[in-house]
Amino acid sequence: MRYESIAIHGGKSDDSGKNAVNYPIYLSSTFTQPSLDQFEEFVYSRGNNPTRSNVEKLVAELEGAKYGLALASGMAATSLVFGLLKQGDKVLINNNVYGGTWRYVSNIFADHGIEYEVVDDFNFYDFNDAAANVKMVFIETPSNPLLEITDIRKVSEEAKKRNILTVVDNTFLTSYFQKPLVLGADIVVYSATKYYAGHSDILAGLVVLNDEELYTKLKFFQNTYGGILSPLDSFLLTRGIKTLSLRLEKHQKNALLIAQYFENHPAVKDVYYPGLKSHKNYELQRFQAIGDGGVLSFRLQDGWDSKKFIENLKFFGLAVSLGGVESLICHPASMTHESYSPEWQEKIGIDSKLLRLAVGIEHEEDLLEDLSNALDKAKI
Ligand SMILES: Cc1ncc(COP(=O)(O)O)c(C=O)c1O
Repeated sequence: MRYESIAIHGGKSDDSGKNAVNYPIYLSSTFTQPSLDQFEEFVYSRGNNPTRSNVEKLVAELEGAKYGLALASGMAATSLVFGLLKQGDKVLINNNVYGGTWRYVSNIFADHGIEYEVVDDFNFYDFNDAAANVKMVFIETPSNPLLEITDIRKVSEEAKKRNILTVVDNTFLTSYFQKPLVLGADIVVYSATKYYAGHSDILAGLVVLNDEELYTKLKFFQNTYGGILSPLDSFLLTRGIKTLSLRLEKHQKNALLIAQYFENHPAVKDVYYPGLKSHKNYELQRFQAIGDGGVLSFRLQDGWDSKKFIENLKFFGLAVSLGGVESLICHPASMTHESYSPEWQEKIGIDSKLLRLAVGIEHEEDLLEDLSNALDKAKI
């Protein structure tokens, strides 16, 4: 089966002969067992729930992987994977990641005796310089919010030689556009709140991988920490996935048109979108992904007022998040990435002029007209 067909027909488990086209929502916290010494697959919903197992199977199939785990949010997924680290271990992380991930790394690691090092550009990182206690590389590509691209194959290869795990946050592209495991990564994490679910109506997180030993550990953590995806949200995630490919194609089409429009507009200073030929990693992105996603960042020139621009937009709501059908705009420095201190923000390029668009699937002409109108009104 190909991707679009798996999204609709994949993951289906036995539904006791009812043959429903939609796998049911098992709103049951517990399951009876036939006798004292007989245990079935489903015992208690923190460990396993049929609706959750169904979506876990589905996301693994979409990735061409063996195992999937569904969690209550993207941060629950990332935290689960960080749970693999022990006191004395060190993590290498790229220099702009989702603010919540940075919040974890810059606050919680220290309490657990875990070190971290921020790498400016993994594409030029020499792994011979990595300390002996490095146990994990954590990368976001494209990165949030600067849309920088990391060579997953190169990093995974170098990391593997040194027994370092490579973890990729693939939220911005999903397995539809990019398959990090195929490129050599060990674990993929997602905020499925975004494109997978696709309608800004649930929070969800995913972990996808092939290694049985790692899976057994993470499955144990999932049951023990307890931050699981509920049956109802598992159903909504399954439903969202059915239209993932269609939505992503439209998100991407709209995002590219807007990026190109910005690139040629006198009001716009910088545009960051990996689908632009001017992007510094355009070629690398062609190699490792088959799409560029629906998020782009930009700065306005000095003669244009960002606040006025945002206030005059009609379709782009001022909100954090991305990947829903509706277009959103956000100011990373004060919203999604406020957990970076002003010093860190300056160091990695998240300044007060940076704006991020999560481009929705509205009609492209409406979005372009909206942006054009707001730019006119924002001229000082
Ligand atoms: C790239 C990325 N990873 C992880 C997360 C965290 O996901 P959640 O909000 O579902 O916890 C986000 C949220 O914005 C994100 O953008």
